[in-house]
Amino acid sequence: MDLFDFLLLFLLSFTGSCFAQSVLPPGPKDAAVGQNVTLNLLYVTKPDDITVWSYSNGATATNVATLRPTGVQVNAAYKGRASVNTTNGYLTLASLTAKDSGEYSVSIIGDGDTLTGEIKVRVLDPVSNVVIKSDLPEAIEQNSTVVLTCSASGSFLKFSWTNITSPIVADGTRLTFTDTDNSSKLTIKDVLRSDLMGPIFCKAENSLQSAQSPAFNLTVYYGPDNVFITPLKPTEYIESKTDFNLTCSTTSSPPATFTWFHNTTPIKATGPILTLKTIEEQGFGKITGDYSCRAQNAKTSRMASSAAVRFTVMEPISGAKITYPSGVLIAGNSSANLSCQAMSGNVTEITWLKDDKPLVSSPLVVISSDKSSVFISLLKKEDNGLYTCRLRNAVSKKEDFYKMVVIYGPEPAKVEGDNQAQLDQRVVLTCAAASIPPANITWKLNGTVLNTKTNEFIIENALYKDSGTYTCEAYNAVTGRTTTYSHVLMVKEEIDNGLSDGAIAGIVIACLVALAASIALIFYCRQKVPVESPY
Ligand SMILES: *[C@@H]1O[C@H](CO)[C@@H](O)[C@H](O)[C@H]1NC(C)=O
Ligand SMILES: *[C@@H]1O[C@H](CO)[C@@H](O)[C@H](O)[C@H]1NC(C)=O
Ligand SMILES: *[C@@H]1O[C@H](CO)[C@@H](O)[C@H](O)[C@H]1NC(C)=O
Ligand SMILES: *[C@@H]1O[C@H](CO)[C@@H](O)[C@H](O)[C@H]1NC(C)=O
Ligand SMILES: *[C@@H]1O[C@H](CO)[C@@H](O)[C@H](O)[C@H]1NC(C)=O
Ligand SMILES: *[C@@H]1O[C@H](CO)[C@@H](O)[C@H](O)[C@H]1NC(C)=O
Ligand SMILES: *[C@@H]1O[C@H](CO)[C@@H](O)[C@H](O)[C@H]1NC(C)=O
Ligand SMILES: *[C@@H]1O[C@H](CO)[C@@H](O)[C@H](O)[C@H]1NC(C)=O
Ligand SMILES: *[C@@H]1O[C@H](CO)[C@@H](O)[C@H](O)[C@H]1NC(C)=O
Ligand SMILES: *[C@@H]1O[C@H](CO)[C@@H](O)[C@H](O)[C@H]1NC(C)=O
Ligand SMILES: *[C@@H]1O[C@H](CO)[C@@H](O)[C@H](O)[C@H]1NC(C)=O
Ligand SMILES: *[C@@H]1O[C@H](CO)[C@@H](O)[C@H](O)[C@H]1NC(C)=O
Repeated sequence: MDLFDFLLLFLLSFTGSCFAQSVLPPGPKDAAVGQNVTLNLLYVTKPDDITVWSYSNGATATNVATLRPTGVQVNAAYKGRASVNTTNGYLTLASLTAKDSGEYSVSIIGDGDTLTGEIKVRVLDPVSNVVIKSDLPEAIEQNSTVVLTCSASGSFLKFSWTNITSPIVADGTRLTFTDTDNSSKLTIKDVLRSDLMGPIFCKAENSLQSAQSPAFNLTVYYGPDNVFITPLKPTEYIESKTDFNLTCSTTSSPPATFTWFHNTTPIKATGPILTLKTIEEQGFGKITGDYSCRAQNAKTSRMASSAAVRFTVMEPISGAKITYPSGVLIAGNSSANLSCQAMSGNVTEITWLKDDKPLVSSPLVVISSDKSSVFISLLKKEDNGLYTCRLRNAVSKKEDFYKMVVIYGPEPAKVEGDNQAQLDQRVVLTCAAASIPPANITWKLNGTVLNTKTNEFIIENALYKDSGTYTCEAYNAVTGRTTTYSHVLMVKEEIDNGLSDGAIAGIVIACLVALAASIALIFYCRQKVPVESPY
């Protein structure tokens, strides 16, 4: 504005004429209550000029102060509040009140010329008490129309709203504004949960001041939205008495309350977690069923249900046990009935194994149709072994074992070992006769019982007198049967009994001939090997 002021002064100095707006800047000039305002002139007064400041409230005009070359004279009504700068003629009013608002005029009486000007002064009340209020204490999403009123005290106020940090703008449908002099109304139709999370602020301002409301937010109740059960897909069978829960979840404000159902029957349970314990305590679970939950919001009065999850509670198997014959089992004579039971739990599958391989049925080995028992009508030695009964259901697996002992034998005995031995040679005779229980072995030489009771008969240093017929007797004390096997051992007394004198002479002659031939060959080679010339 410096250039503008300068131009005005330039014009004035040339024309010297009287322009209505030329000596004072354009108004209105705003000042706050209690503050000072200085009305400056666009005209440079001369020392001889008389400057007269007056006030008009529209009806009457009053002199405020007059500057003469002799000094400043302040009207009694403005004593202590008004002052005129003796150098430039500017009027300063201190401690402004609302009553100081109005038109101020100045007359500069100079050398033959009189310049006059007017300016409007507005004394503004300070901006204060900016506050947002809602017509509703709480709102319901999509149902409520919320009217927020921002009010403030102060003069010539303009309002603006911010949401977090960005301005809120009317969209003409859901969000509309209605402003008055001292308030602004924000109307939100079909309010959404996100609308008023804020914080929301309202700012009231005029040309001098601005003030912001405290942060405002309004609870908008909503939900329940989609309701889910976790786990979404539980396994078909859930093991009884385990730490298994169904959890129901949804978004809702305030938090939803939950009701649980087994098919259509309500389950007595509260809260978002339904434990397996509760399910079992109320006798649900034994029957395959659909479990669902319903969420309910007390404020919105809305409810929503989850999709159902299906499972059956199953007791695990415990105490698998094989029942087996109590007496002694004898091959070719006894039969055996093995049966397998669980102490508790619903068994859905029974498997029989013998020595870790699936038990095969045969005319003699009959597995009952429900697989709970195996009947062997006539036992054979091959039936000896470790029997496993494996019980299974969807949630567990249990086994029991039975080692079946079938008495048999001894089978025909057989002795293995040398039939001939040299003097001092170590000789081992082994007697084998399959038998359960293992057969007691008795060794005899030429019909005389020997001390050895083991399967192996060992002669450390064979002597001629060890020759003879060795008989192994295998005896099964349970079957009372004995099998025997006879084995002949010959011990040769003299080592050189093997070659005749003639044979020995022949060998000696052959050696001598071979030696002579070797010597002849060596001599022959020495003569025939050519020596290579170095050239
Ligand atoms: C009067 O105005 C002059 C020139 O603008 C300035 O230097 C001086 O400080 C003012 N005096 C008072 C009392 O304000
Ligand atoms: C207003 O004027 C009074 C008296 O002239 C003075 O004491 C005070 O400091 C001034 N206040 C301001 C803010 O200029
Ligand atoms: C706002 O202005 C109206 C009249 O325009 C008045 O009745 C009301 O009291 C004012 N409210 C405040 C807070 O100043
Ligand atoms: C406030 O801001 C949030 C997040 O940007 C927005 O979802 C919501 O609609 C806004 N509210 C208003 C009243 O503009
Ligand atoms: C908004 O409201 C919530 C809940 O009533 C409150 O926890 C939060 O402090 C409030 N935030 C502000 C900025 O007022
Ligand atoms: C099931 O819920 C109970 C009680 O709420 C809790 O103690 C337990 O840890 C939960 N179990 C699982 C597996 O989440
Ligand atoms: C929501 O609005 C509908 C229709 O205006 C009304 O029937 C219902 O009662 C309202 N719900 C609540 C919780 O006020
Ligand atoms: C075989 O079985 C019969 C009766 O079943 C019994 O009388 C007999 O003693 C048995 N034989 C043996 C060797 O156990
Ligand atoms: C084997 O024993 C089970 C259980 O005791 C019984 O049900 C079954 O009939 C018996 N089988 C035979 C062939 O005796
Ligand atoms: C055991 O399971 C079978 C098949 O799933 C079912 O038919 C039967 O009723 C169950 N028995 C018990 C005692 O749960
Ligand atoms: C058979 O042998 C066992 C152990 O080797 C022994 O306890 C038992 O007395 C023997 N029986 C006979 C009849 O010799
Ligand atoms: C056993 O009998 C054979 C032939 O009868 C005989 O050669 C041998 O010396 C006898 N051995 C003993 C230890 O009696």
